[in-house]
Amino acid sequence: MTPRRPARSSLFSLFSALLFLQSTLVSAQDTFDCHLTIDSLKYDLTSLSGEHTISRTRETPPTSWLDKATFNLCDNLKIQDGVAAGDQCPDGTRACLTKTNTKGSNSDRVVAVIPLAQSAALKPEYSSLSSSKGISLVLHGSPYPIAAEPIPQSFNLTLLCSQEASEPKFISYDGVQLKVEWSAPAGCSESQQPPKDDESKGPGDGGKEEESVGSGIGWFFLVLLIAFGAYFGLGAYYNYSTYGARGLDLIPHRDFWREVPYMLRDVVSHLCSTVRPRRSSRSGGYIAV
Ligand SMILES: *[C@@H]1O[C@H](CO)[C@@H](O)[C@H](O)[C@H]1NC(C)=O
Repeated sequence: MTPRRPARSSLFSLFSALLFLQSTLVSAQDTFDCHLTIDSLKYDLTSLSGEHTISRTRETPPTSWLDKATFNLCDNLKIQDGVAAGDQCPDGTRACLTKTNTKGSNSDRVVAVIPLAQSAALKPEYSSLSSSKGISLVLHGSPYPIAAEPIPQSFNLTLLCSQEASEPKFISYDGVQLKVEWSAPAGCSESQQPPKDDESKGPGDGGKEEESVGSGIGWFFLVLLIAFGAYFGLGAYYNYSTYGARGLDLIPHRDFWREVPYMLRDVVSHLCSTVRPRRSSRSGGYIAV
């Protein structure tokens, strides 16, 4: 008789391997790495990465206001040396708005520090613009107490497709969302970029295929995992309700699953002995049936 224990533990490790695989597939989709696909058009925003600062001033005599936003689409902002921790956004911020008030020759006073987009709350939303070529990208941050109730903040970039890059522009901030407009080649999809004549076909097609294969594998594992879960769940329920089974007896087709690792081992050793040169298999490589 072969020992029984290994069968169970390898079933468990198969299960946890599947779960791990699925969770890495899901979490890989959450992160925003500056590559987007909208309606099967691919956009690469990495050329816009790095920290950019935009601002606007408003005169409210006798003081004036400076609203300054710093953002990096592809990475967190760096913590600035020489700026008090309370006067800058915390670590993990991708877009930060500071409001500074100046009165005459008195020193500036930072009156608000608002994290507009934070990696932990990013939930990127993107779509292509309806009016012109380009995309709209919205990144999210946590709530800020701008009114009586804290309001979730966001950073809304309108990225226009243009052959020439310009500087980003501060459009508006209404206490909830900062609107930024920017014209750059990155606003054009990859297939629109080099020669503009043909949009549907071009170098982008190969990449598109690759992408769909990748997500196809993700779906395959998801469906496999759900099927496994349903099989064990329903099987356990059946064993429980029909036979009143408990504990490990709940596993459906338990005897079969016990044998699986041994069957796999047999298959592997059979393959090995086939591949191995004759001479070594003669010296004791036969499998007892
Ligand atoms: C982002 O800004 C654009 C242009 O103002 C607007 O049409 C769009 O609704 C905004 N998106 C979100 C999610 O607020």
